[in-house]
Amino acid sequence: EKVVLAYSGGLDTSIIIPWLKENYNVDIIAVCVDVGQGDDMNEVKEKAIKSGALKVYIEDVKEEFVKDYVFKALKAGAVYENKYLLGTSLARPLMAKKLVEISHKENAKYICHGCTGKGNDQVRFETGIASIDPSIKIIAPWRIWNIKSREDAIDYANSHGVEVAVTKEKIYSRDKNLWHLSHEGGDLENLKNEHNTDIYMMITPPEKAKDKASYIEIYFEKGIPKKIDGKEYSPAQIVEKLNIIGGENGIGVVDLLENRLVGMKSRGIYETPGGTILFTAHKELEHLTLDRDTLHYKQIISQKYAQIVYDGLWFNTLREGIDAFVDITQENVTGNVKLKLYKGNIMVAGMDSPYALYDEGISSFGESELYDHKDAQGFINLFSLPFKIKAMMKNKN
Ligand code: ARG
Ligand code: SIN
Repeated sequence: EKVVLAYSGGLDTSIIIPWLKENYNVDIIAVCVDVGQGDDMNEVKEKAIKSGALKVYIEDVKEEFVKDYVFKALKAGAVYENKYLLGTSLARPLMAKKLVEISHKENAKYICHGCTGKGNDQVRFETGIASIDPSIKIIAPWRIWNIKSREDAIDYANSHGVEVAVTKEKIYSRDKNLWHLSHEGGDLENLKNEHNTDIYMMITPPEKAKDKASYIEIYFEKGIPKKIDGKEYSPAQIVEKLNIIGGENGIGVVDLLENRLVGMKSRGIYETPGGTILFTAHKELEHLTLDRDTLHYKQIISQKYAQIVYDGLWFNTLREGIDAFVDITQENVTGNVKLKLYKGNIMVAGMDSPYALYDEGISSFGESELYDHKDAQGFINLFSLPFKIKAMMKNKN
């Protein structure tokens, strides 16, 4: 029998290899889905083989990740609990898809992952896999074995010939990809602790950021970012560029006490420099190009979309349905947004669009042909009619 293992090269997924062999008598196909975690993939490959995998796949999906997952969330304005840009949540369904593809290619009946039994990721992986191929069986070692801590994991590694480059010192549980980096656990579990800015890996703390502001101009076409300062880039390149310039300017840190799907509250520090810039710019352009009703209705949809992504329901019809709605709203979300970045802040420094619904002539305080001040009187009379009637009723009683 073959097992496809979601492999990262970290301690947890490395000890899973000998554990699987010991307990299941199986061949292990390690799959590392490269969503931009920034690891040396040759090292990852070597490590998997050394730990006992029969075969290793490295799947570079960075462009697909940004184009088909991240940018959909951007267009939809999906932000979980008003703060979290869903960096981990968006990568999981794509990983699930790749794991299923490879298990089909390898004729493997099992997929194994290294998520704990207390988190969201197990739900996202398994719901994603089940939505594509319900016949695949899941092995989730963290819900089975007796390894309960990092110390246990290191001991297990040492006794099974798995090289470890980590210390027993309690460190954060991290997840990195092109869109974000998360930190959870460790001293963050005590809410009285202010998070230490030394943990940042993508962002210069605002107080240490450059003293001079940076200006950038982002061009969107139908809600999709296409150019930075007039130069065209691929989706992954856009995010990479903005991560650097956002990081230098201290942009994109979130400290969030969030509600996990599995019931508990948990604290996370998120670094999303490029994402924060893109969400800000995109929102500004929508304010310029969407009418009021559409804009407001879309805000309701955004919340729902965020929950769908967070909950691992990417492959559900509802997500696709909302995407169809969102795409119609994005038809005119085309234009330039210029931003000023300074020590953790983003300020709008100008924008324009061929589809702008803002008209200086109409909006300015002076006279215009389309707007006659006198019309306002009749409008207010009718607009306030139900409230007049209600007040008359109240006063009578
Ligand atoms: N709390 C975030 C989420 O649920 C981040 C999870 C990070 N995952 C990890 N395996 N470290 O999306
Ligand atoms: C995990 O528990 O494996 C990571 C955190 C999460 O999935 O929420």
